[in-house]
Amino acid sequence: MTDKTRLSADEWDEANFPRPAETEFDRVVERALSRRGFLGGVVALGSGAAAMGLGVLSPRAALASTTARFPFTPIDAQTDEAVHVPQGYRARVLARWGDALFSDAEGYDLAEGGPAAASDRIFGENTDGMESFAFRGHELIAVNHEYTNNDINLPAAQDGVPANAEDVLKLQNLQGVTVMEIAEDENGWSVVKDSPFNRRIHHNTPMVLAGPAAGHALLQTSADPEGLNPLGTLNNCGSGKTPWGTYLTCEENFNGYFGANGELPSDETLAAGYTRYGISAEGWGYDYHKWDARFDVAANPNEPHRHGWVVEIDPTDPQSTPVKHTGLGRFKHENAEVVLARDGRVVVYMGDDERGEFLYRFVSNGVYTPGGSTEGLLDDGQLSVARFNEDGTGEWLDLTPESTGMEMAEMLVFARTAGSRVGATTMDRPEWISVNPYAVEAYCCLTNNTRRGTRPNAGGDETPVGGPNPRAENQYGQIVRWFPHDDDHAAARFDWDLYVMAGNPAVHSDAYAGSPNVTAGNMFNAPDGMAFDSTGLLWIQTDGEDSNEGDFAGQGNNQMLAGDPVSGEIARFLTGPKGSEVTGLCWSTDRRTMFVGIQHPGGSWPDGSGLPRSSIVAVTREDGAMVG
Ligand code: FEO
Ligand code: CA
Ligand code: CA
Repeated sequence: MTDKTRLSADEWDEANFPRPAETEFDRVVERALSRRGFLGGVVALGSGAAAMGLGVLSPRAALASTTARFPFTPIDAQTDEAVHVPQGYRARVLARWGDALFSDAEGYDLAEGGPAAASDRIFGENTDGMESFAFRGHELIAVNHEYTNNDINLPAAQDGVPANAEDVLKLQNLQGVTVMEIAEDENGWSVVKDSPFNRRIHHNTPMVLAGPAAGHALLQTSADPEGLNPLGTLNNCGSGKTPWGTYLTCEENFNGYFGANGELPSDETLAAGYTRYGISAEGWGYDYHKWDARFDVAANPNEPHRHGWVVEIDPTDPQSTPVKHTGLGRFKHENAEVVLARDGRVVVYMGDDERGEFLYRFVSNGVYTPGGSTEGLLDDGQLSVARFNEDGTGEWLDLTPESTGMEMAEMLVFARTAGSRVGATTMDRPEWISVNPYAVEAYCCLTNNTRRGTRPNAGGDETPVGGPNPRAENQYGQIVRWFPHDDDHAAARFDWDLYVMAGNPAVHSDAYAGSPNVTAGNMFNAPDGMAFDSTGLLWIQTDGEDSNEGDFAGQGNNQMLAGDPVSGEIARFLTGPKGSEVTGLCWSTDRRTMFVGIQHPGGSWPDGSGLPRSSIVAVTREDGAMVG
């Protein structure tokens, strides 16, 4: 039996919910072809100026004005089982799956998978989004553990299938979030074992719900009739950081953990929600529902509604209770990029990572003042979805009871449905969003969408080719950016362009070659993680196809690149070990170390023998200068 946790979320959703082919197929293909032709022309000319006139790539991406501002010599694509960084840089492991956060968990045996009692005292598996915090002289990192590869977390003979409640509890403990203190000495950075800040937050940690949907009937369960006190945070993917120093962890493919012992509930609202969010009777291979009734939707039909939120954690207080903010909407959250509007209101940009889902923005009603109350700043406000127009303009469409015909709590719980009702643009899987600290502009990785133009999203919305999603069956991905009007992230309208279209100019000569800032020397596919550094460089991490064959020949392993937002230049900085995804990025307070996450590596990385271990690496310069 195949370990289903080795399937991508998309592959699993697709298997569970096969979608009919697009009905207006001919029309869609026609548009795709004409679009291909026109983009192909741009690429063949290789000219930013030609692109400008077509409104696809902005003057800011014109390559005539290259600046070569990268503080490193770009590296080649790699296909081995190592992490590579440029000459003059060094990458050392900070924390690996299974490392003890507390002395009493030393000796946890990964190969044996135990003891289970220590499974919430070690660094979890599959590191993802992370943020660093300086607090009273302590360096803290909060980092997500997105999911588990069950075949290496459970005894080998079980082939990734949990056999009892203890197996399930162990998997639940190995995911979620780690908060840990780190320190640097002459050997580099390491985790401060037994630090009072060290904490594991997992699938059973008590939380509270806040915001307009908290306490609503859709969030009530037999164990929590008030609908206010959920347990656990699931499938923690990207991250965010508030101006007041808290960590935001984003619940992505939460649907995969649920199943049903018996029939799925037939109630119309529930059933529609399950379909849109991918809740199936079979689940995703975790089999929690067979051993933990909370995850059996036949018994607890509202439990899935308590997941799919952005969760706020105070990393400086190990006793604090994480808060699920319903005001930010429920969907498959990638990350949460927080920025202030011109008047001090809090703006949160968020992507919903599934084929054909939407980009969201939240603007608070209240204003953030340093040191002031932050009550309600992530709940009381306006949630909107993006509509991109073909002419390079766009607007934020407010989700309200009036615009959606849904009452407030239902609208937030089923935010996807609300987005469909107002006509949001279906996107090529929005992943991380990052805001340029030196210009009022935001960037979003649209990682890929191999069904663009051929299949609707889970709500039946068509996915026409065009606008910021210009290629049918898009296997490479692109980065869209938008420029809010009035230089204000709270503005209703924006202009947009594509910062880069990933592609392969060694294989294709049409739009699939990518935009002019993609070359045989820097090419990549599936941009996913992303963060600006303090100097204004845009760091781009990939989670794509690393076969190095066919459409992907020459692109090598997943990688991290730096992009210049002004010139459009992109240069490869780091390559991950074969099989891995590069995801998660933050810096030490002195900016002399960049921490980078390596998720689901292959081989025996980083130890050289034994199981592959997802890890955070610390990247420094040999001359001790700042890294980004
Ligand atoms: Fe967890 Fe969309 O990446
Ligand atoms: Ca991701
Ligand atoms: Ca991804």
